Amino acid sequence: MISIDEMAVFCKKKGFIFTTGDIYGGLSGFFDYGPYGIELKNNIKNVWWKRFVHDREDVVGFDGAIITNPKVWKASGHIYCFEEVLVEDSKTQERFRADHLVEEALNIKADGLSKEDLWKLIQENNILSPNGNPLKEPIQFNLMLSTQIGPTKKDNIAYLRPETAQMIFTQAKLIQETTRLSLPFGIAQIGKAFRNEISPRDFLFRCREFEQMELEFFINSDNPREPEFEDIKINVLTAEEQGSRKKNEMEHKKRSISSLIGKHTTAWNAYWLKEAWQWFAELGINTDNLRLRQHTKDELAHYSCNCYDIEYKFPFGWKEIHGSADRSRYDLEQHQKHSNKKLLLRDDFVQQNVLPKVIEPSQGVDRAFLVFLYDAYNDDKKRGNIVLKLHPKLAPVKVGVFPLVNKLDGEAKKIFGELKKEFVCIYDRSGSVGRRYARADELGIPLCITLDFESLDDKMVTVRDRDTTYQVRVKIKELNQTIKGLLEGKKLESFGKLIKST
Ligand code: ATP
Ligand code: GLY
Repeated sequence: MISIDEMAVFCKKKGFIFTTGDIYGGLSGFFDYGPYGIELKNNIKNVWWKRFVHDREDVVGFDGAIITNPKVWKASGHIYCFEEVLVEDSKTQERFRADHLVEEALNIKADGLSKEDLWKLIQENNILSPNGNPLKEPIQFNLMLSTQIGPTKKDNIAYLRPETAQMIFTQAKLIQETTRLSLPFGIAQIGKAFRNEISPRDFLFRCREFEQMELEFFINSDNPREPEFEDIKINVLTAEEQGSRKKNEMEHKKRSISSLIGKHTTAWNAYWLKEAWQWFAELGINTDNLRLRQHTKDELAHYSCNCYDIEYKFPFGWKEIHGSADRSRYDLEQHQKHSNKKLLLRDDFVQQNVLPKVIEPSQGVDRAFLVFLYDAYNDDKKRGNIVLKLHPKLAPVKVGVFPLVNKLDGEAKKIFGELKKEFVCIYDRSGSVGRRYARADELGIPLCITLDFESLDDKMVTVRDRDTTYQVRVKIKELNQTIKGLLEGKKLESFGKLIKST
């Protein structure tokens, strides 16, 4: 596996991700998505939306504002509780997350330890800043990014949302009334979130501006109508197994997801974890690189009474890519209290309005982006180039069209013109065909079409498969259908005799 720094270099070189304001030295924790990055990112969001909104009867979509009434953040507890512990280098004044320094120095998991406990560990173990200097006593640091609204000077502070969820909670009643959904049901949203991370690092993994795909699922806890679902085997590390002071890299066990129900979680939470796990698996992620890790009591967020992360095995360790929290009635109760408005939701089954509890699967888009890139990345020594084996649904470009020589430009351009009405395509006529295949592999383009001199007579072109490099010759007039079939998973050999690449 390449390091995260090497991944950042690859992403820049191939037009996936750039550091924002690069020509001015960048800005820590902020990134721009390049031409291929935005295509991959949009595909991730679109397949998520299709699976979790359009394909379901019990979930609707929503898009809330990034800046809302600041009272929302007071009610939700973010103004008081959305904090991390910060330590400062006594000489350089550089600031770090205390739990990260402790984790690195002692190889334990320190997420969620109190300011006092972290300070004790720093002192007992003489932990220094990464610059080798002593650290000052830690302080609490709120992660919300703030801004000012309008021209007035007083009382105009507002916050950029640190999670998309709150807009859903505050509008859930209106959404239900306008859609006439009945409990249990969900509201999904994809959008930007902002956190003033103390030390952004690991490229896209920890940014200050990022995107979330969140779903708040509302359940009548007196009558939850628990789901029945296919049991699958997954990798799990429970809170019980981690004990109170967790080692950084603990072993998980393979077990069936249903075995968690009861002692470790509810059926609804298990169901949503299974859905999130399967979403990754269906998009080609090697599930040996995934595991569920339950939060221990001390690391639960202020709103959550139980939480499982899905973690991915990055080169910098097992790290959270998805959080599925049982938020109970916390948020709706808080908003009822602070707004003085009733936020009960309708359950037609029992013919009552109730204050439901909430299960929240929360998926970071940028972390998913990184996972898909890592899992797809293959350094193919035989070919002498990188092959990004992205799932066809995610591939930023679906088809590359190449004329064998420039003389064939006119005919090849006609094919390109037809194909791009239906698929995201690129046209490439520079360099040898071998170089063009290599460039296409590095962008993860699943199919390449080459037009040669024979094509002018037999009206056929070669279609080359990225993963096997096998080719078939197909009729130009059947090209759209062939490509559609191949992108949907049909085998190359079902369209013609396989030709081995030379
Ligand atoms: P971490 O412990 O790594 O800081 P978190 O517990 O704060 O993560 P959550 O609050 O559960 O993360 O946020 C839900 C999801 O949003 C995460 O699973 C992750 O995918 C994404 N996310 C959170 N913070 C960031 C960030 N700084 N950069 C990129 N994605 C993020
Ligand atoms: N909405 C969950 C989170 O962002 O933490």
